[in-house]
Amino acid sequence: MQATLRAAALAATLCLGAFGAHAVTLKISCGAVGLEFQLCKEESDAWAQKTGHEVQVINAPNDSNERLALYQQILGSGSDKIDIYQIDVVWPGLLANHLIDLKPFTKGAEKAHFPAIVANNTVGDKLVAMPWFTDAGLLFYRKDLLAKYKVAPPTTWDALAAAAKKIQDGERAAGNPKMWGFVWQGRAYEGLSCNATEWLASFGGGAIVEPNGKVSVNNANAIKALQTAAGWVGTITPKAVLNYAEEDSRGVFQSGNAVFLRNWPYVWALAHKPDSQIAGKVGVMPLPAGGSGSSGGRSAATLGGWQLSVSKYSKNAAVAADLVNYLVSAAVQKDRAIKASYNPTLPALYQDADVMAANPFMAELASTFAAAVSRPSTVTAAQYNQVSNLFWNAAHDVLSGKAKAPQAVADLDRQLNKLAPADKWN
Ligand code: GLC
Repeated sequence: MQATLRAAALAATLCLGAFGAHAVTLKISCGAVGLEFQLCKEESDAWAQKTGHEVQVINAPNDSNERLALYQQILGSGSDKIDIYQIDVVWPGLLANHLIDLKPFTKGAEKAHFPAIVANNTVGDKLVAMPWFTDAGLLFYRKDLLAKYKVAPPTTWDALAAAAKKIQDGERAAGNPKMWGFVWQGRAYEGLSCNATEWLASFGGGAIVEPNGKVSVNNANAIKALQTAAGWVGTITPKAVLNYAEEDSRGVFQSGNAVFLRNWPYVWALAHKPDSQIAGKVGVMPLPAGGSGSSGGRSAATLGGWQLSVSKYSKNAAVAADLVNYLVSAAVQKDRAIKASYNPTLPALYQDADVMAANPFMAELASTFAAAVSRPSTVTAAQYNQVSNLFWNAAHDVLSGKAKAPQAVADLDRQLNKLAPADKWN
């Protein structure tokens, strides 16, 4: 017995000796939308195996703003409870003070990522996060149903509403009372800000707060955009959408009960898994353009995506940065793209035959990704979450019928101007 223990201890010492450092336990907080949690765990375990360190993957709420509240609570108390944070593309300005500069650890690896994301993740001269995957809002649709009803993939919201109604009515009459035309994310949370940003941009209604700091939301096109979306609720969209986040809307679509779905790229891989009821029946295209005729609408996708950051309160920041480098590397991003359709942040992977074969839309919709519209997080920085909160509540009130669009944007305009610093956001 003694001998066995001694042998085990010796083996452990040799093992750590080979790794050249004492083993530490890192805690990483990953998302859990779709396959996120499972992949984060597998990848972190692979790194742990290689390095002799241990990693605990911590589950955080799925809704981005709830996750932010939790992170702010932990970071605000200076706690080292979490070493590595998965952070949303709209948070670098909000969290920068709590995060380390990763540059001393990356050996310039950030230069291989999309420069716009690296710029987004750079606050002052600190690189506070490494890009992990990028997102843009897309329109998923049932190819089989559009073919059955001889409907072309819709390029305007009006065409989408007409197609959704026709197919919904037809399928209900044919025996599926649960069928709906169009599902999306209408809960009062960050995801609604993403959907509503697309509606506004697609109608030429601006970006709520413009990059020069001006509050622009009180305009006729923004009103039209919100009225259009409110018109879907109860007709082509179930009222329950007012409480849907990403996974709720995917659930309805993937169980075969919706014709169109607005969501992020991760849906592609899940919709095509062998156990999916809609495998092989799904198409994906840019979101429809707003306006009809004269008001000159366009297709608009909100830019999303997630990054990895190291807490400045971590006791093992250098080791944590090593795990971040590993997770954002080309090999891991390639694997994530193939298994779960996470769009890489490395342009080189868009030339990779395996990634493209698994995700043809990544090349086909390249211009959608390139032109994705940003939420006003850079200009409003530390106040972004308050700005977004006011915006999603205003949108939610219009969708639920609690407020009329003209009044809602006028009130929002007033609230935002009150929130803005005296010298405006710029
Ligand atoms: C996706 C996007 C993220 C966004 C969130 C909203 O996760 O990548 O940027 O904030 O959806 O629900």
